[in-house]
Amino acid sequence: MNVLVIYFSQTGGTEKIAKMIQKGILNSGNKCEIAKIKSVDTNCLKDFDLIGIGTPTFFFREPINVRTFIQKMKNTDGKHCFVFCTHGSLIGNTFFYMNEELIKKRYLVVGTFDSYSESSIQFYPKIMHTIKHPDDIEIKEAENFGESICDISLRVKNGEIDLIPKFELIENTWWAKQSKALTPELLRKFYPKFKINIDNCVKCLTCQESCPVDAINVEVNPPEIQKEGCIFCAYCEKLCPEGAIEADWTMTRKGAKGNLKGYVKALREAELQGKFRPYVDYEKII
Ligand SMILES: Cc1cc2nc3c(=O)[nH]c(=O)nc-3n(C[C@H](O)[C@H](O)[C@H](O)COP(=O)(O)O)c2cc1C
Repeated sequence: MNVLVIYFSQTGGTEKIAKMIQKGILNSGNKCEIAKIKSVDTNCLKDFDLIGIGTPTFFFREPINVRTFIQKMKNTDGKHCFVFCTHGSLIGNTFFYMNEELIKKRYLVVGTFDSYSESSIQFYPKIMHTIKHPDDIEIKEAENFGESICDISLRVKNGEIDLIPKFELIENTWWAKQSKALTPELLRKFYPKFKINIDNCVKCLTCQESCPVDAINVEVNPPEIQKEGCIFCAYCEKLCPEGAIEADWTMTRKGAKGNLKGYVKALREAELQGKFRPYVDYEKII
C-alpha cells in the first residue's frame, strides 16, 4: 500500500506523532511519504491508496486551515483515510468535523489516533498540564497505530465494516457550546488586535514564513498582520525574535481563565481512566 501522511503542526507535537505513524507504516512493509499540509497539492492525493491527515485541536475542533485543505480535496469513490490529532486537555469535536468534511469528498475514515501534547497558548499559563506529552507511551502507541492501519484498511475493504470508527457530535458540554460560538467572526472580535512595531521589526520574515495561512506581509508599508484568513493561532507573536508583534491579552486571559478548571477536571477524569499521565502538579499551574 502507498500511504501519504499529511500534517499541520506548529509546536512539534503533531509532527512527532506523524513521524511515528510513518515509522509504523514502514515497519508494516508498506510505503509511506510524509508532508506538511501547506506544501501539499491536493492533486497528488490520487497517487496514494491511503491518506492520513493530522492536526492539533484548536478551539475544540480542527483549525480553519485544515478544514479548508479538506474542502479543496477532490472527490473520490471511497478512498480510505485516517485522521490523527494532538491536543491539550480536550480534543472536543475535532474528529467529528474532520470526518464530516471528508465524507463530503467521499473519503472513508478507517482509523483515528489522538495524543495529548504540550499545549502552549498565549492566553494561558506558560507551563500547562500537558507538559512532556506526547510521552514515550503515546509515541509507542502512534507507532503501533501506524503498524496496524494498512491492515485495517485492507480488512475494511474485505468486508469487516465494524472496524470503521463511528463519530458523534458532542453538543451539550461547556466546551461544545464555546466551540460552536467561536466562529472566525467572533474570534476576530475576541482576539486582541495584533500590531507590528516597525521600530523593532527587522523584517527577518520569521512570522511571515511561519504563518500557516499567509495572513502576514511585513514587506509592505505599513506591515499587514491578521489578514483575511487568519486562524488565530498567535504563533507569529510567540515566534517573533524581536518581540515586535504586540498584543494585549488582558481581556482574553480574563475571559479564558474559567476554562482552566474545566481542563483540570477533564484531565483528572482521563487520568482515572488511564488515558492521561500528569508530569506536573496541577496546583502549581496558575
Ligand atoms: C489557538 C489554539 C487553540 C487551542 N485549542 C485547544 C483546544 O480547544 N483543546 C485542546 O485540547 N488543546 C487546544 N490547543 C492546544 C493544542 O491543541 C496543542 O498544543 C497541540 O498539541 C499543538 O500541536 P502542535 O505541537 O503540533 O502545534 C490550542 C492551541 C492553540 C494555539
